[in-house]
Amino acid sequence: MVQYNIALIGFGGVNRALAQLVAERNELWQSELGFRLNIVAVTDLNLGSVVSRNGIDARMLVETNFEKGGFARLSGGSAEADNEKVIRQAPADIVVEATFTNPRDGEPAVSHCRWALENHKHVVTTNKGPVALAAADLKAVARRNHVHFEYEGAVMSGTPVIRLAKNVLAGAGLSGFEGILNGTSNFVLGRMEAGLGFSAAVKEAQGFGYAEADPTADVEGYDVRLKVVILANELLGAALKPTDVSCEGISALTTMDIETAAKEGYRWKLIGSAARLENGSVEASVAPRRLPLDHPLAGVSGAINAVSFTTEMLGSVTITGPGAGRVETAYALLSDIIAIHRSASAGSITEAAE
Ligand SMILES: NC(=O)c1ccc[n+]([C@@H]2O[C@H](COP(=O)([O-])OP(=O)(O)OC[C@H]3O[C@@H](n4cnc5c(N)ncnc54)[C@H](OP(=O)(O)O)[C@@H]3O)[C@@H](O)[C@H]2O)c1
Repeated sequence: MVQYNIALIGFGGVNRALAQLVAERNELWQSELGFRLNIVAVTDLNLGSVVSRNGIDARMLVETNFEKGGFARLSGGSAEADNEKVIRQAPADIVVEATFTNPRDGEPAVSHCRWALENHKHVVTTNKGPVALAAADLKAVARRNHVHFEYEGAVMSGTPVIRLAKNVLAGAGLSGFEGILNGTSNFVLGRMEAGLGFSAAVKEAQGFGYAEADPTADVEGYDVRLKVVILANELLGAALKPTDVSCEGISALTTMDIETAAKEGYRWKLIGSAARLENGSVEASVAPRRLPLDHPLAGVSGAINAVSFTTEMLGSVTITGPGAGRVETAYALLSDIIAIHRSASAGSITEAAE
């Protein structure tokens, strides 16, 4: 039986959902995927940390209502989240990084990833920060240590946008992409089309739990900009920083703009895009765009995300799916672990790293 020991860094929505899946699906994974997961460590800013060589009961972890510092009650537990010690010393094969996204320098998640990789542990993460701001460096550390750094969930949650483009569309001549990469702003635009003003639409999005109390990162395009950086660097071989990507959000759009577009057969969408230019450089932007109704992204409504890839062989190829959600994002972590498992089974981890 193959069993991967995992350490969860951050125990909020996504890692709790992963622990829940472990509690419910390990037997199924063992027969369908050929491995099971064993949680050997968890750290969380609020709850503290716990390490157990034999494994921590996943069901207990998700069903117990821990108070602040509550992991101290568990055997091997402490009220402090000593991330560095846990990441370096826990007997984990894979470190699962799901702490908060820091759009400025990616910390402390960048350090979490680096500590794990330096200690020969694979890293899977849904955190945009380390991927958008330090992927090249972290990939190099991973290669040197013959381990994987995987981050499918950082762009479109469980919808497999990175692997689709890198693996399934390999050789198709990908030259660019355009996408709806923020469900909140897409929901807001839809509600504005139904007649609501911008502020009322944002309030409704907050009511449904789509928008944060401070919706700036969603509606001003900053969240999309990080995702565009990740996709452009990963798929088009660029080396962009967020400041290289021009960024305009949807807050200046009025109901009049939306109505006029509708009358003329168009629909406003917040589009993150990048394209390889003839001189080989990559240009990327985030901006509201008026799309004709027959555009593949024009019909993507609500909190759904989509990306259209421009390819030489197939023309435009579009993938649509959820771009957020706890379980959906935990699934992305599972898909990363499956990729690691398949690579290990094929004996290619060391080979790929050389
Ligand atoms: N949820 C989604 O739909 C989704 C989709 C795609 C990507 N993501 C990304 O996935 C990551 C996790 O998302 P989430 O929804 O699980 O967020 P969350 O519910 O806010 O959970 C993050 C957890 O990490 C803890 N934490 C923060 N800093 C930490 C540190 N230095 N050390 C240890 N723990 C720390 C937080 O504790 P406190 O609460 O005490 O701060 C919180 O419990 C984020 O980077 C997010 O952007 C999420």
